[in-house]
Amino acid sequence: MTYDADTGLLLLDTPHTSYSAYVGREDDIPIHTYWGPPITAEDAAYLATSTAERLASQWACFRSAANRHEEYPLDGGLQFGRAALSVEFPGAVRTIEWRLARHEITAGPGHQELALWFEARHQELTVTLYYRVYDDSDVIDRSVVVRNDSTTDAVDVHRLDSAAWVTPEQPRHRMTHLTGRWAAETQVRRTDLTDGHLVLESRRGITSHHANPWFAIDDGTATEESGRVYSATLHWSGSWRMLAQRELDEPAQVLFGWGHEGFGPRRLEPGEVLKTPVSSGLFTADGFGAMSHAWHEYALRHVLPNSGELRPVLFNSWEATGFDVDEAGQRALARQAADLGCELFVLDDGWFGRRSGDQAGLGDWWVNTGRFPRGLKPLIDEVHALGMGFGLWIEPEMVNPDSDLYRAHPEWTYHYAGREPHTMRHQLVLNLARPDVAEWVFGELDALLSANDIQFVKWDMNRPFTDTGWPEQPDRQGRLWLDHVTGVYGVIDALRRKHPGVAFEACSGGGGRVDFGIMARTDQFWPSDNTDALDRRYIQHGFSHLYPARTMSCWVTDLPTFINKRRVPLSYRFHVAMAGVLGIGGDLNAWTAEETEEARRLIAQYKEIRHIVQHGRLHRLGEPGRSASAVQYVTADQKESVVLVYQEAQQYDSNPAPIRLRGLAPEGGYRVDGGAVLSGALLMGHGITPQLTGDYASTLIRLELLA
Ligand code: DGJ
Repeated sequence: MTYDADTGLLLLDTPHTSYSAYVGREDDIPIHTYWGPPITAEDAAYLATSTAERLASQWACFRSAANRHEEYPLDGGLQFGRAALSVEFPGAVRTIEWRLARHEITAGPGHQELALWFEARHQELTVTLYYRVYDDSDVIDRSVVVRNDSTTDAVDVHRLDSAAWVTPEQPRHRMTHLTGRWAAETQVRRTDLTDGHLVLESRRGITSHHANPWFAIDDGTATEESGRVYSATLHWSGSWRMLAQRELDEPAQVLFGWGHEGFGPRRLEPGEVLKTPVSSGLFTADGFGAMSHAWHEYALRHVLPNSGELRPVLFNSWEATGFDVDEAGQRALARQAADLGCELFVLDDGWFGRRSGDQAGLGDWWVNTGRFPRGLKPLIDEVHALGMGFGLWIEPEMVNPDSDLYRAHPEWTYHYAGREPHTMRHQLVLNLARPDVAEWVFGELDALLSANDIQFVKWDMNRPFTDTGWPEQPDRQGRLWLDHVTGVYGVIDALRRKHPGVAFEACSGGGGRVDFGIMARTDQFWPSDNTDALDRRYIQHGFSHLYPARTMSCWVTDLPTFINKRRVPLSYRFHVAMAGVLGIGGDLNAWTAEETEEARRLIAQYKEIRHIVQHGRLHRLGEPGRSASAVQYVTADQKESVVLVYQEAQQYDSNPAPIRLRGLAPEGGYRVDGGAVLSGALLMGHGITPQLTGDYASTLIRLELLA
C-alpha cells in the first residue's frame, strides 16, 4: 500500500485487486477513483488527475460533483447526500471541514495498515481513517477513530460509519443481500438500486434475523461463476445501518456502520475517543462463488479463532427434551448420543433457577436442585466418562421478571422510569452497558465455568431491545446501543482469556446474531431455530454467501419438524446437516433401531469427510428447490472432494441432469465413491450424474485424486 503526501495519491494493493483514491488539494476530501483488478501507480495517478478534472468540469449549480465519490462523506459543506460522519458541535454547528494532518503506514504480521489523520479546521476534533490490507486476502478492512480534542466541550456524534464503499458508475447496480426473520434467516434477495436510497438495517440491538450486515453489488449480469462483484460487511453485533445512495449517472456509495437512525446522539466527552467496528470490503472478478471463497478464507484466516480445528459432532437437548431436563433423562440421552458417535453433549435451556418453562428463572444461574439434586457434576462426569465434552446453554443478557435477580435488581434492565417495560418471551434485557452489570454477568459465568468442567457454552439471546431507558444516567442513554455490545464482547473476551479450553456458540433465537463481530470471539453459529431440512437448505444457501461451513452448526432433528410439520427421510436430514458442523438434536429415546444404525453410519461417515467440509472450499452447484442441486467441498490441495446432492422433488420420470463440479484439478484422475476413475476435466466439463429417485432424495459422493 502507498500514500504519496505530495500528490495525495492512495493506492492499496491486495493479491488480486487494487483500490485507489486521492485526497483533494484544497478541501482535503478523499475521492475514490478505482476498485478492481490490479493497476499500477501510474494508472492510479492518471485516474486521480482525470477524475479530478472530470468532477471539476461538471456543471454544479444544484449539485456537488464530488458527492457519492467521497471515501468518507462529511456532514455539511457541499454534502447533499447522507454523511458517514455527522457531529454536532457547541452552537448547533453540524459541519466539518478538515485538513489532512499526517499519515502513517505500519506493517503487522501478514498485513499493512494506512492511517490518515484529519483535523477539523474550525473545531477541536480529529478523525482517523484506517485501511488494512492482507498478504493473503483481497479483503480490505476499514475503520474510523474520532477524538474530541477539546478540553472543555462535549460534542454529539449523530452518525459515525465505519466506511463508505464506492462502486463504479455502471448502468445497473444490482444489490444482493440477506433478509429473513426468526426461523427463516439468510434468505437471498436481489434488487436493483434506484436513484435514491436503499437502507438495510437492524434497529433491534442485535444483528437481527431480518437483515444480515452484508451486501454485494454487481451490474446485473454476474452469475455464480462469472462477473465483477463488490461486497462488504460489518464486524458488529448490535444495531447497524447500511445505506446505499446514488443519483442519476452516479456511482453507488454505500455507507456501513453501527447504530441506527434515531437512537440518539452518542455524546463524546472532552478528550474522549470513539472507535468504530471494522467494515470489510471485497472486489472479486469471478462471480458470487469466487466472492464467497474469498470471504470464507478471510473469515478463517483473520476472524474466527481456532479456525484450524475440527468442530466435534454435538448432541443438543433442546428439541429432544425442551425445558424438561433432569439428571436421569440427560444421562440416558448422553449414553445414546455417545453410542451414536457424538463427541460433545450440550445441555440446553432448563437446568437453572426456577425454570420450568420460559416464564421464570433467567438471571438465576444456579443449578436447579429439583432437577439436578447433586448439581451438574454427576452428569458432566458421565458425559466425560462416555468420551464426550460437556456443553451448557446460557442466556446471560436476560432476566425474567419472575427471578431472584429481577426482584433484587429491577434497575439493571432497560426501562423508562414510571413505565412498565415490554416483555418478550416473558423476559427483559439486562443493561450490559452498565459496567457493574457486565461485571456481575462475568462473575456468574466465571463461577459456573470454574466450578464445572465445561468445554462448550451456547450463548443465547432471545429478544430484541425495547424500552431503552437508563433512568439513573439519562445522559448515557444514547450510548447504550453501542456499549451493550461492547459489554457483551468484553464478557466473552474475558471468559475466553480465563477459560481458554471453552468453545462458544453464538446464538440469538437461532440466527439473530450472525456476524463477523461475534465470530471473532466464538467458535460457531447456530444459524436458525428452524431445523426442517428443506427450509434449512435455503437458510444454509444464503448463509454460505458470507460465512464458512466451519461456523455453521446444523442438527438432525425429529419428525414432524416443529416448525412446519414436514416429514423428510433421515438420510436427507443428515445430508443437509452434514453440509456444515453436524449435530444431533432429536429425542434419541424415540429413534428406532434402524434409525439409530443409519445415524451411526452417517456420523461415522461425516467424521471421515468433515475436514473437507469444514476446511475445504465450498461451491454452490445450483440453488435449493430446483430439481437436483448440490454443494461441493474441495480441499486446498484438490486431492479430496465431497459432493452432497439433493433432489427435493422428482419431476416426471426424469433422472437428474449431470451436475458439473468445480475446483478440481482438470488433469487429475478422481476415483468416484471408490469406483470409476474420471478426469477432473470430465467431472467439471460434463459433470456427475447422481442416481436419485423420488422426493427428498439425496446422496453423498466422495472423490479422491489418484496419486
Ligand atoms: C433459542 C435457541 O435458538 C434454541 O436453540 C434453544 O436454545 C432455545 N432458545 C432455548 O430457550
